[in-house]
Amino acid sequence: MNSGGQRSLRPATAPRKVFVEAFGCQMNVLDGELAISKLSETGWVRTQDDSEADLIIFNTCSVRDQSEHRVWSRLGALRERKAMDPSLLIGVMGCMAQREASEILRRMPHVDIVCGTRRFPSMDAIVERAERGGQVLAVETDGFVDVRRDVTIRPDRHRAFVSVMRGCDHKCSYCIVPKTRGPQIDRPVVDILDEVRRLADDGVREVMLLGQNINTYGRYLDERPTLATLLRAVHEVPGIARIRFLTSNPMDLREELLRTMGELPKACGYLHFPAQSGSDSTLRRMRRGYTRSRYLELCAAARELCPGIELASDFIVGFPGETEDEFQATRSLVAEVGFKQIYVFKYSVRPGTAAAAIADDVPEDVKSLRCNDLLDLQETVSAERNRAKIGSRVEVLVDGPTRRDASRLSGRDDGNSTVIFEGSPSLAGALVGVRVTWVTAPVLYGDLVPDSER
Ligand code: SAH
Ligand code: F3S
Repeated sequence: MNSGGQRSLRPATAPRKVFVEAFGCQMNVLDGELAISKLSETGWVRTQDDSEADLIIFNTCSVRDQSEHRVWSRLGALRERKAMDPSLLIGVMGCMAQREASEILRRMPHVDIVCGTRRFPSMDAIVERAERGGQVLAVETDGFVDVRRDVTIRPDRHRAFVSVMRGCDHKCSYCIVPKTRGPQIDRPVVDILDEVRRLADDGVREVMLLGQNINTYGRYLDERPTLATLLRAVHEVPGIARIRFLTSNPMDLREELLRTMGELPKACGYLHFPAQSGSDSTLRRMRRGYTRSRYLELCAAARELCPGIELASDFIVGFPGETEDEFQATRSLVAEVGFKQIYVFKYSVRPGTAAAAIADDVPEDVKSLRCNDLLDLQETVSAERNRAKIGSRVEVLVDGPTRRDASRLSGRDDGNSTVIFEGSPSLAGALVGVRVTWVTAPVLYGDLVPDSER
């Protein structure tokens, strides 16, 4: 138990402020919003400034060792502040809280709350317990995860994340997620639709449906909906103009989904489906459940059924035993597919995964070389693909003025590219046409197309 003791509750008139910082994936960003939504029911308000916060929550990621290191050092840095101000509450939630709960409590006695990946919807009650004193541990993984929320609490006015499932049933040999987030639980279609409708009523135009392995959505629900049927249902919600989803394991990607995406005008032409490697032997050791040729077949099917679709992928370099030939197979896959975007990660041993039993034998400098090599290759591919868009018209959902220059607007096109152009801030939330005039590898620049020409 930590030093806190009985804390005096502040007067109800002074709103208490919570600062939440998310590390890692989009699911974490959303879980942080859900926790804030719960806390708002008991009078907490969000602050973006941790120095004025009464409660600081780190929403953590365990996917790589480095992600955890960052949180350890951030927690260490709060030790002194907590000693000066014992009324400050410090919480850790997310995958690292789930995985390292007892270590966190032992090494960081100034932490008040450790809340895992399935208990954060009760954050209001957890914080109340912490306010009464002592460290609170909430890492049970059983039972239903109630992710209903106050839809008005979100950082972005026109785009929103929606959780459709939690956890993952796969056992990719490098991946800690099934351990930290538990087995798959699907959210009923009616609950999802209810949330999407409420978001649309509050001004949201684009929803991003989130699941760790979203292609298997629905397998545990009685009516056996699929991601394709869910897309069709969300498509009917008035006010929603765009639908995206993450993340697709190629093992479970079916042509039915691609066909549906091709048919539904609101389904964005963007598919993030991580290949992880282009080498069959590495894919086998990763236990990914598909081959290079199946992956290429899916890329071809996506392009046939959804003309103009942009493909994106993740890759892990330096997986145990990865030879130069195996890496070259990944390199040639990246050159062959022509992704819009890739994310490259150096392999990181995750204790308790199957791959942790194999020696992490690719030296760090080789991992770095392979990582940089793939990123350089992709930069050339992206720049070339973007150059081909000069002169074309893209449909942009406007986010608002750019941070650097208020006279310029920023938004995303259907294929998830950032687009920057001049225009009035009143266009935020509108879908506009932009003619592309020049490009860099990550960004398209252009001019607004007048309504009369649209
Ligand atoms: N659900 C996603 C993966 C989530 S983790 C899927 O289906 O692929 C996000 C990314 O982190 C993965 O795609 C992978 O590229 C990377 N990653 C996961 N475990 C890793 C590890 N042990 N070392 C390095 N990168 C890893
Ligand atoms: Fe991880 Fe594989 Fe599931 S990468 S999240 S175990 S599909």
